[in-house]
Amino acid sequence: MYSRIAGTGRFLPEKVLTNKDLEKMVETSDEWIRERTGIQERHIASDGETTLDLCEKAARNAIEMAGIEPADIDMIIVGTTTPDLVFPNMGVLLQDRLGIHGCMAMGIEAACTGFIYALSIADKFIKTGNAKRALVVGAETLSRIIDWSDRTTCVLFGDGAGAVILEASEEPGVISTHLHADGKYKDLLYFPSGVSRGFADLKSGTDFVQMKGNEVFKVAVTTLGRIVEETLEANDMSADEIDWLIPHQANIRIIEGTARKLKMPMERVIVTIHEHGNTSAASVPMALDVAVREGRVQRGQTLLLEAFGGGFTWGSALIRF
Ligand code: COA
Repeated sequence: MYSRIAGTGRFLPEKVLTNKDLEKMVETSDEWIRERTGIQERHIASDGETTLDLCEKAARNAIEMAGIEPADIDMIIVGTTTPDLVFPNMGVLLQDRLGIHGCMAMGIEAACTGFIYALSIADKFIKTGNAKRALVVGAETLSRIIDWSDRTTCVLFGDGAGAVILEASEEPGVISTHLHADGKYKDLLYFPSGVSRGFADLKSGTDFVQMKGNEVFKVAVTTLGRIVEETLEANDMSADEIDWLIPHQANIRIIEGTARKLKMPMERVIVTIHEHGNTSAASVPMALDVAVREGRVQRGQTLLLEAFGGGFTWGSALIRF
């Protein structure tokens, strides 16, 4: 038994924040942001628009493409770092929004790797016969935890949600997934507050994403190079058998680094960072949905998905679409 992607969906908040807009907020330039990151604009959730709102729209989009009803879903898993509530978890809140009741529902926090972790977990439930049809979502409103006066972080991130319907199939589907984490890097990219440790006084200026960008960049390039190699080796495949690389959209230079490692031309890499920015757990499923709806990713093609995020966490999924 395998799991296969039956439908994809995405939702981006209406409000767009361009590099030009950011020039008015911090000491930066459109040219600097484009050259160093590849980002031109990002979407930002409006006041009162939450991660759950984004999740619901992306999920309904994927449900529609899969041609199923919400009631056909027997597992919901949402990867996010920016949930609406501490609990109930985002899977449960999304289940209620979709008007279905009783199926297992969970949230998973693995920063930017959240969707890959969620997909891998859902795949295992389906492969072992414990679920037949899973709704897997990656969604974020990272804009809520960014210091908008810190030019070293605020230019990078955006909001959005991406979703897939994963269903049981006799043919692959998800061929393999590979998950990793290494907590020794916990101080390079993190959010400093939490329920148990307590929230900092907002005026102290520390209750925001903290990042040592330069160091994150170096580890990301080498780690993603390794994970794509690990994935190919595990399946005895070479890079030219991959039709599309669908990477986490953090920085165009990191994406190009991974493509170079695979000797893959950029024409076979899905890039959405210019319009989406880094949307953390939402980035890979949104890039997948863009490529599917534009007709670039076709049924039967082989896709390599990868992501890297705070923790560090990182992972990949090899998929026959
Ligand atoms: N606009 C203009 N200048 C900026 C700037 C901005 N938005 N942000 C930083 N700078 C300045 C720095 O202050 C520094 O100035 P200095 O040389 O006078 O000290 C200079 O630009 C170079 O900074 P540096 O941090 O070395 O740049 P970089 O080439 O490493 O690019 C990042 C910075 C953040 C874009 C890059 O390191 C990166 O993308 N890292 C990975 C981050 C990431 O992906 N995080 C999420 C992982 S999932």
